Parts: sequence; C-alpha cells; structure tokens
Amino acid sequence: MKIAFRFSIIYLCLFISFISYSHDLPWLTAPYLQNVKPNGITIMWEIREKKDIYINYSTDQALKKSKQARSTNSKHDSHIYKIELINLKPGTTYYYRLSHEDMHSYIRTFRTAPLSPQPFSFGVWSDSQGHNRGVYNIDIHEPTKSMMKHMADSGVDIALTAGDLAENGGNYQDVRNYFLDRIAKYLGQSVPFFPAWGNHEPNRQDIIRKFADTPAKNRTGMDPGWGSYSFDYAGVHFICIDFSTMKEDIKTWLEDDLKSSLSNNPRYTFLFIHIPPYCELWIDGDKWLRSRLVPLLEQYGVDAVFSGHTHEYERGYKEHVHYIITGGGSWLDWEEPIVKDWEHMFVGGAKNLAEFRHGLINEYVRVDVEMDEWIGSMHAFQPNGDYIGVRDRFGSMLKDANGDGLLTGPERIMPSNYLTGMPSDARKIGVNDPTKKKKNAE
Ligand SMILES: [Fe+2]
Repeated sequence: MKIAFRFSIIYLCLFISFISYSHDLPWLTAPYLQNVKPNGITIMWEIREKKDIYINYSTDQALKKSKQARSTNSKHDSHIYKIELINLKPGTTYYYRLSHEDMHSYIRTFRTAPLSPQPFSFGVWSDSQGHNRGVYNIDIHEPTKSMMKHMADSGVDIALTAGDLAENGGNYQDVRNYFLDRIAKYLGQSVPFFPAWGNHEPNRQDIIRKFADTPAKNRTGMDPGWGSYSFDYAGVHFICIDFSTMKEDIKTWLEDDLKSSLSNNPRYTFLFIHIPPYCELWIDGDKWLRSRLVPLLEQYGVDAVFSGHTHEYERGYKEHVHYIITGGGSWLDWEEPIVKDWEHMFVGGAKNLAEFRHGLINEYVRVDVEMDEWIGSMHAFQPNGDYIGVRDRFGSMLKDANGDGLLTGPERIMPSNYLTGMPSDARKIGVNDPTKKKKNAE
C-alpha cells in the first residue's frame, strides 16, 4: 500500500510537470539572439497575440532572475517581443526560459561576449535575400537553410551579414520566408548576428528592420534597426555600415569611430558594407566608396572589408586591406557579365574560382581570430545544401607588415595547410602567391 501510494505521488508529479512544460509558447518566430555585449544581450521573438511574457535566467538552471518582455505590434497580425538583459558577466554562459502564465519554453542558452582579447570565430554571409530560383526545385529555400545550419553548427561565436536579407525588406511575407524562417531560425537561435543593411531593406520603416536590435540605437538620431554602428568583441573592432545612411555616416561618423577605437588598441578591425568598393562581375564596385571610404580604411588600418550586392564570391588585397565579396547567400548572378579586371582582385570575378566559373558559388566565410593572427576560410555549398568544402583561404599572415610591397621573411609564414583548396589560378596571381613574391624578392 505504502509503495502504491509512493508511485501515485511520483506519477502525479510527473503529470503536473508534463502539464506545465509540455507546451512551448506558440512562436511565429522562436527566440533569437541580437546585440551581444560583455554585459548584456537582446533576445527577440514573434507571437501572434500580445501576451505578458517574462524571462527567467541565471548562470545556472535555477533561473533565479526575471524580467518582463516588451512588445510592439508588427502591423502584420503579430507582435514582436524584445528583452534586453543588462549587468551580465562577460564571457559567461546563461540559461533562460520564457514564460506566459502556465506556458513555459524549454530552457535555452546564450553566451555573453568576452571582455578581454581571446580566440574566437565569426561567420559572414550576404544576400540571403531570396530562394534558389529553381536551381534546386525540391526545396527552393536551399542552400541558404543548410548554410545557416552549417554556420551555427560549426560553433561560430557571432555572425555578421553585409545585407540584403529579403527581396523586399518592406514586405512581411518576404521577411517571413527569407529572413525569419531561415536566418533567425537556423542561425539566430544559437548565434547572435549583426546586420549591415543593404539596398533591399532601404527604408527606416521596413518591417525587417523591426526584427533587429543593433548598437545603432546608442547613436543620436538612429534606432535599433537604422544606421551604421560599431562594437567590440574580444578586443576586435567591428563596423557595420547601413546602405541607407552610408554617405552621411562615412562623411561624418566613421572617422570619429575609427579614431576613437584606436584608443582601445583593437587587435583587428573588420568592416561590413553591402556595396563593394571593388568588384569585377556586373559592376566594377562603387566609385564614391573608392574615393571616400577606401582612404579611411587604409589610413586607420582596417584589416578586411566584407561586402555582398553581387551574388558571387570575389577576393582581393590592396594597401594592407583585404576585400571580400561574399554574396553567395541565395541565388547567384549567372547572367551578369565581367565588367572589370582589377589587378588587386585575384580570386573569383574575372578569374575562375577552383571548379566554379567566376565566383559563382553559394558560400559563407568563417573567420578564426587567434591571439596573433586571423584566418578566413570560404565554405562552399551545392544548390541542394550539400557541403562542398573550403575553396579559399586568406588572413593576416599575408599582410605586408613592413610595407615594402613584398611578402618576405616572417610575413610569409603561414600554416602548412594554408593554400589547401585555393583555386589554382589564385596561386599564380597577386599577393597570395608565395612563389611569385619570393621570386620578386630575389
Ligand atoms: Fe543582393
């Protein structure tokens, strides 16, 4: 009898916990991570109705602290929720659960940014704006879905995008199909990401911008989804330029930002801007950016610029700045002609990239930041989402440290696998050809 009673108590407890935890909240967009900092993070999600939702969180699963979420009406039959957590510990994993009355989400985690320099990695992609245009009919949302999953599963700490995240960032259905159901879902649930907005989300009121929380909100006259901004992560400075405020920001804000970042002595500086200064397929880049942005990059020692806009992969190196176009986020620019052959753009574009014509390949870039170097690798995918592998590598070890135009001595030291997967014609052209540079040095 005693045993039977004990069992019924256990069953009752199990039943109560089943009732309490069996139904997750009715997400339209499940919680995703934004604006991670050493002492804070923003968590966002979308639900059809307006509800009182609160978060419980802490560094262990006791979830001792709590906070109420704020919500705004998306005006598309849903509500966008946001919780900004502050006063967190740097470089720390937190557990959290979202609740409404007797409904509770399962326990999720996030990790705050490290305060001090340490190794970490980030992903970069661009132009995940649409479907694959029938190249893989079985699932038109590939390979973007697989690329986002791959990036998240590879364990990057943060991700950045050079923009164009929906064909029409002002159209809710486009934002649903291309952004919320792919980027927020497969990447953002575990990886905080930062957008440098593109020309397909040009307006301040575009719905896609309401789904972001960026450090631009700290600038006078800007808001969480509007304007260029910068932030530091583990001693590295990141700058995201908004296509829509680009000219004013570059003329007035950027130089101040670069100057003031120098006082923090950043290990590296990476800049993200939708339209590339230099390009070979479809356009030759942007003349205004070449005259106004490039001198600042060179003067203030920006290490690399990541762009999109053209839907392909290109890469070059000029005056100590790496230029990368990583526009292979969804459909590719098969129809576009080569319009320019810049001498310093030596991968993709006017050259074939490995087995791919020009730079026409679906891809994203991963950057591993170590204590004394950074290494970029381009990860290529088939239209159906199958992973092809790394097809380009680049990084800080190829910098011309003494400015003599040659990669000699310690400047040429690189990991033995550095050129693995490098396209054969890239080995023959430009600064990433150690053989050629050695010959020149002799
Ligand atoms: Fe685009």
